[in-house]
Amino acid sequence: MMSVAFLGIGWFLADYIRGQGKQVDTGSTMPLSQAIPPQHDTSPTNLQAAWADFKAVVGEENISTTDDDLTSHAGSEWSSYPSLPGDRPFAVIKPGSTEDVSKIMKICHKRRIPVTAYSGGTSLEGHFAATRGGICIDFSRMDKIFKLNKEDLDVVVQPAVGWESLNEELAEQQLFFPPDPGPGAMIGGMIGTGCSGTNAYRYGTMKDWVLSLTVVMADGTVVKTKQRPRKSSAGYDLTRTFIGSEGTLGLVTEAVLKVTPLPQNTRVAVCTFPTIRTAADCVFSVVGAGVPIAAIEILDDVQMRCINDSGTTRRSWQEVPTLFFKFSGTPTAVKEHISMVQGLAKRSGSKTFEFAKNKEEGDELWSARKEALWSVMAKKRDASDHVWTTDVAVPISRLADIIGETKDDISKSGLVGSIVGHVGDGNFHAIILYNDAEHDVADRVVHRMVKRAIEMEGTATGEHGVGIVKRDYLPHEIGQEAVDLMRKMKQAFDPLCLLNCDKIVRVQQPKPGEVQEW
Ligand SMILES: Cc1cc2nc3c(=O)[nH]c(=O)nc-3n(C[C@H](O)[C@H](O)[C@H](O)COP(=O)(O)OP(=O)(O)OC[C@H]3O[C@@H](n4cnc5c(N)ncnc54)[C@H](O)[C@@H]3O)c2cc1C
Ligand SMILES: *[C@@H]1O[C@H](CO)[C@@H](O)[C@H](O)[C@H]1NC(C)=O
Ligand SMILES: *[C@@H]1O[C@H](CO)[C@@H](O)[C@H](O)[C@H]1NC(C)=O
Repeated sequence: MMSVAFLGIGWFLADYIRGQGKQVDTGSTMPLSQAIPPQHDTSPTNLQAAWADFKAVVGEENISTTDDDLTSHAGSEWSSYPSLPGDRPFAVIKPGSTEDVSKIMKICHKRRIPVTAYSGGTSLEGHFAATRGGICIDFSRMDKIFKLNKEDLDVVVQPAVGWESLNEELAEQQLFFPPDPGPGAMIGGMIGTGCSGTNAYRYGTMKDWVLSLTVVMADGTVVKTKQRPRKSSAGYDLTRTFIGSEGTLGLVTEAVLKVTPLPQNTRVAVCTFPTIRTAADCVFSVVGAGVPIAAIEILDDVQMRCINDSGTTRRSWQEVPTLFFKFSGTPTAVKEHISMVQGLAKRSGSKTFEFAKNKEEGDELWSARKEALWSVMAKKRDASDHVWTTDVAVPISRLADIIGETKDDISKSGLVGSIVGHVGDGNFHAIILYNDAEHDVADRVVHRMVKRAIEMEGTATGEHGVGIVKRDYLPHEIGQEAVDLMRKMKQAFDPLCLLNCDKIVRVQQPKPGEVQEW
């Protein structure tokens, strides 16, 4: 009897293991052909029931279903992705804590409701388009700076703290947080896109300024990636896995950020050039000479005209290719760096080299650069015009070539488009004006710019991220296998594809004609 029973159990076990074997996906990567299309439930009955569940967590006053809110939480005027009418969440939910977010995700997980995350809403590539409907989690209530550990040079914050207000607070302690993306951007979204900005040349990108994250996973599990040490070899780098993941792997509800002493003695200079190529050549020689300047920005003649015409600065500008330089350090160091750069600029053919008179003028100049996009938007001929901001980066030795070729290409296309960028890192943007009839022309210009960058061993995006618009460039840039590995990661973190589904990697085959020919 005993042996028969054992035999039975043995068979059962073997069967069970064999059965499991069939279920387990044994591949290291996940090609698109093997991806299981997401099975969401966005039926009215399910959403209605979910609404009551959400209400129990955050209260009716922290759920919005107004038309304006739904639209503004699914796209923006400055995004290069034209939101489709159906790309809207059914509700915008505003949690107040990590626990709230966890409870919301448990509801969404149980009910299979897709989710998009929203912080400052300044991202540019269709990052928070609600392609699957569902809900948008708006972090605006989670806007506290929890604790500044001054001796340790770190600060604990919630996701809706803006980089500008954070720096206002830090300045009181002579401290500074360098990543500086678009005005209005917030820590949650900055982690989402792995952003940079004008300070990245000197200080590095968002990836270099985050020590640890608290993240809510797709099923509501709360994970903390690390404590607060400056360095750690403790296992996989979960912190960096979430940085730049665009809300597809988890929701950031708290972050520990590094801070650094506020730079003293900052000076800003403006240097004009006869052509965009000579300006880009100057960048190459300054970077090559290793002058430790704080930032170098390029702005072409079109961009300078837009800034001049926008009248946002008191100064009037020559409408020619221009480099903005920022110097910082001890007074002697700044003096030395300035004279080195002046020499190199002259050799590259610069026409003028002028300094901002004082701190106010320097700040104004820098904000004119930061608001370059708004000054191009001000050039819209009528309400049907759009702007397309696109971003690539190349190894610095190829910068002059790609900027020169792209500028020529924009001119030939007949569209108005400016070139502007954080060129010290080989990173630049084109900001293109177009209307619906010109959409395909703009699309081709962007496509050729990205292709050029990838063929020069560069990247489809230096800082803005992939969103929806840049997805199909990834296989060309890093290879199909690497993209399939990313899809496998996505699947491991979020098997139901609840979190910002369709961003970064596709989970379903594209429609015919959707992917541009390479
Ligand atoms: C005028 C202008 C200038 C800009 N200049 C720069 C620049 O110099 N450098 C640069 O890098 N970018 C720049 N940008 C782009 C933009 O500012 C950055 O991408 C920024 O990091 C986005 O932050 P946000 O808070 O607005 O994010 P959002 O747009 O709210 O979100 C960005 C992404 O992160 C996700 N997300 C948001 N919150 C969370 C969270 N709590 N947890 C997980 N995921 C989340 C979203 O779903 C989305 O995928 C500019 C934009 C504008 C409009
Ligand atoms: C909704 O948000 C407001 C503002 O933050 C807050 O005071 C209130 O307590 C929230 N409601 C609930 C039920 O959490
Ligand atoms: C810049 O704008 C000012 C004010 O509108 C204008 O007077 C000036 O001529 C412009 N500069 C150039 C070089 O066109």
